[in-house]
Amino acid sequence: MLSEDFHSKLKNWLDWQQELEPFFFSDRFLGDINKTLEDAVKTLSPEPDIQSLLNTADGIHVKPAEQKPQIEIKSTYEYDPSLSPVENLQREVSQCSRCPLAQCRTNTVFGEGNLNADIMFIGEGPGETEDKTGRPFVGDAGQLLTKIIENGMKIPRNSVYIANIVKCRPPRNRDPFPDEAASCIGYLKKQIEIVNPKVLVLLGRVATRYILGLETTLSAARATSHEYNGIKTFVTYHPSALLRNESLKRPTWEDIKKVMKFLAEAQ
Ligand code: URA
Ligand code: URA
Repeated sequence: MLSEDFHSKLKNWLDWQQELEPFFFSDRFLGDINKTLEDAVKTLSPEPDIQSLLNTADGIHVKPAEQKPQIEIKSTYEYDPSLSPVENLQREVSQCSRCPLAQCRTNTVFGEGNLNADIMFIGEGPGETEDKTGRPFVGDAGQLLTKIIENGMKIPRNSVYIANIVKCRPPRNRDPFPDEAASCIGYLKKQIEIVNPKVLVLLGRVATRYILGLETTLSAARATSHEYNGIKTFVTYHPSALLRNESLKRPTWEDIKKVMKFLAEAQ
């Protein structure tokens, strides 16, 4: 028999797959998942539910966009009605173990700022200082982002909203793997829904890839205009790239001026 725990984890995982687009999945990841499911069925005596779980997982493999799970799947998170939706989401994130990054985090980094912000900045994932403090963009790159917002745009940092693609720090600050991003991005999508900003500013390649599905170079992505779910979306360099390469500061500033112009005209 499958243990309760395995069963609920599997359901939990499948729940999230409903919301995700096919390009987030690496073949390796799909291969691993399908193999895990096959092994589970081979070695454990099947329960009635397992076959429908397998159908669902197989559906994702074959036709991700069209197949919906046929069984009702509940998240294991227990919603606390005394908290607001965003507080519940933050609490859910703090308990998350959907991907292996959970095992090496000190703190989850949910995101912070004004829930009515016009501008939402999206980075990649926590670095060392963020992991220690539980706050986004507070290390060296964060201080540069804060300068861009406060000295450049001349608005307080707490008037915008700041979040990341993944909520846990990848080891040695490597890029998140596609399966890690896929496990996590549902949280960010809910944050975007809650804040409902006038513009998104994607910082760097990772945010651009997972929000817009673009695999192009960052300079190609900067050159065109984008929308995410009807929200005007700008792409610019990640502040850590500016720390490594001063010459990116000027084009970044050009991008930020475009953001400010768009917002001024949208008022
Ligand atoms: N880099 C990011 O992408 N996000 C952070 O929160 C900090 C550094
Ligand atoms: N490469 C990146 O990863 N980020 C940038 O912002 C620019 C180049």
